[in-house]
Amino acid sequence: MAIIIDGRALAARVRAQAAADAARLTAAGSALGLAVVLVGEDQASRTYVRSKLRDCRECGIRSFDYKLSADTSQDRLMSLIARLNADDAVSGILVQMPLPPHLDAEAVVQAVDPAKDVDGFHPENLGRLVRGLPGLRPCTPAGIMCMLDAYGIDPAGKSAVIVGRSSIVGKPMSLMLLARDATISVAHSHTADIAEICRGADILVAACGSAKMVQGDWVAERATVIDVGMDRDESGALCGDVDFDAVEPRAAAITPVPGGVGPMTRAMLMRNVVSAAASELC
Ligand code: GUN
Repeated sequence: MAIIIDGRALAARVRAQAAADAARLTAAGSALGLAVVLVGEDQASRTYVRSKLRDCRECGIRSFDYKLSADTSQDRLMSLIARLNADDAVSGILVQMPLPPHLDAEAVVQAVDPAKDVDGFHPENLGRLVRGLPGLRPCTPAGIMCMLDAYGIDPAGKSAVIVGRSSIVGKPMSLMLLARDATISVAHSHTADIAEICRGADILVAACGSAKMVQGDWVAERATVIDVGMDRDESGALCGDVDFDAVEPRAAAITPVPGGVGPMTRAMLMRNVVSAAASELC
């Protein structure tokens, strides 16, 4: 039986710490405010944004909610970002992705002031991660590192396999684990024998966006398995990238979906908003 890593409980602790830090900063005269920009009507994005605004309220962080129509022009969005960059009441800026296809998402990411880039998506912050410098870190891999630490799982000297190579999760995850002295493999859609690569993992991070792709026989006995997926199975039920029922009996520790990585991603956003306001980058 594996230890089930409780992302909800840990996220509540991270949020409580963020709330305490926010109160201290506010009392010391810092302006804490998260601007959340949503373009269009995507229902999943609306739900995510609502949760982020609720987290801000719970942590005593002011929020600024910008809902723009799906036909918003690039110029209009860029001028909003320029205005938020210049606004001292705004310490963090999050533009919810994906953007409608007519918009240039890369230009938008690069337009956000790196000091307010609470998603950690800006090339300056990703470059800082590569160089081992302080900076705002992407929330999902930062939340995973926090979970490993909380459960006493030290990556040093371990073999870590990340399935998926996105700029938001896979690539920064590999850099964070490397910085903690793990030996890294990044598997992806062109990897020849992905199951065999995964079987070599002490720490396996599944971030491929494919329902239950990681099977029981892909996982070494006593591995730690982290599931970033938020997918739907054949019956429409929420599931992850890992076939939980098949993998759990082999694993030493595993994150559930829901209740694992998702809550930690949201909690790390609150931590990043506090760090950006304090300019004490983690
Ligand atoms: N869309 C899905 N996840 C995220 C996220 O973490 N940040 C932003 N900005 N958009 C997202």
